[in-house]
Amino acid sequence: MSIETKNPTGTELRAEIDRLRKERNAVILAHYYQKPELQDLADFVGDSLELSRKAADTDADVIAFCGVKFMADTAKILSPEKIVVLPDMDAGCSLEDSCPPQKFKAFREAHPDHVALTYINCSTEVKALSDIIVTSSSAETIISQIPKDQPIIFGPDRHLGGYLNRKFGRDMLLWPGVCIVHEAFSEKELLKLKAQNPGAPVAAHPECPPTIIDHADYVGSTSGILNYAKTMPGDTLIVATEPHIIHQMEKALPMKRFIGAPGADGNCNCNICPYMALNTMEKLYACLRDLEPRIEIEEGLRLKAKQSLDRMLEMASGTVGKGDLGRI
Ligand code: 13P
Ligand code: SF4
Repeated sequence: MSIETKNPTGTELRAEIDRLRKERNAVILAHYYQKPELQDLADFVGDSLELSRKAADTDADVIAFCGVKFMADTAKILSPEKIVVLPDMDAGCSLEDSCPPQKFKAFREAHPDHVALTYINCSTEVKALSDIIVTSSSAETIISQIPKDQPIIFGPDRHLGGYLNRKFGRDMLLWPGVCIVHEAFSEKELLKLKAQNPGAPVAAHPECPPTIIDHADYVGSTSGILNYAKTMPGDTLIVATEPHIIHQMEKALPMKRFIGAPGADGNCNCNICPYMALNTMEKLYACLRDLEPRIEIEEGLRLKAKQSLDRMLEMASGTVGKGDLGRI
C-alpha cells in the first residue's frame, strides 16, 4: 500500500502534528535540550527524572519522545504497553556510547562487593547490569541513602561521579565516560565572560568538568538550573549547559538576561548537543503518522532494567522538580 508522500510544512505541519497527536491519543514529551519549536508544542518539557515519571504515569496510548534514545528506552521500560516512538533513532548519547555492556559487565564482576550506581544516560543493557539508576536531579538524595562504608562503582559519567565524590566525601570507582557537550566548555573563555559580566552568577550542570564546576555559583540538573534562574541574585545568568535550555528561561523570565557559557571558540554554539539536534518537526510528524521508528525491548531485559529504575523512582521520591545538587 503506498503512503501519501506530500509532507506538510510551516503552520500546516504544526496543525498536522496536533491532529495526529489527538488521533493517536499521543503525548509528546520533550527534554530542555530540544529545539525551541519542539519544546513549544510538547505536552510536557522536563529533565530526565521528570520525563521518566511522566512516561510512567501517562494514560496516553503513544509516547512521542523528543529527546535521545536512552530517554525513549526508559519510557518503554516503564510503560511497556505503550507505543514509544523517537523522531530519529540515531539520537544517541556519548555517555551511552562510552559504556559498552560487555565491558561494564567485566567492571562489575571485578568489584563484586560494590553497588553499581549508574547514571540514566546509558543503554538498557547497562541499566539491567546496575543496582540503582540516578539522574542529575536525584543523585544527591539517592547517594545520601547509601551507607558510607558501602563501596560503589559509578558510571558512565566521570564528571558527575567526581562531583558526587567531592561533595559527599565518597570514593566511588568511576567509569571514564564524558558528555562531549559539557566537556567542550572552556575555562579560559568562561573567565573572560565572567570578567565582562561582573557579578553575574554561573549555573552549571554536573556533567561539566571540575574546571567549570569550580567557577559555578550553582550546580544542578536542567530543572535545577531553571529554578535557580528564578531565584538568583541579579538579572544576568551565565548558563553552563546545553544552550537550548535558555529558551525556557527567556519565556519564564523575559526581564532577565541569559548567556550561554562558551566553548574554546568563544561562543556557545559548539555546546549544542548533536544527538538532540537530530530531532526535527518534520521527523516528529513522520513518527506520529507512521508510529515508527518504535522502541522495542526484549521482555527479560526490560524487567531486569526496570528493577534499577524502580529503585531510583522509590529512592528519589519527594525530589521531583527540585533538581538540586547544591554547591560543594
Ligand atoms: P537532566 O535533564 O536530567 O539534567 O540531564 C541532562 C542530560 O544529560 C540530558 O542528556
Ligand atoms: Fe548525552 Fe551530553 Fe547530549 Fe546529554 S547533552 S544527550 S549527556 S551527549
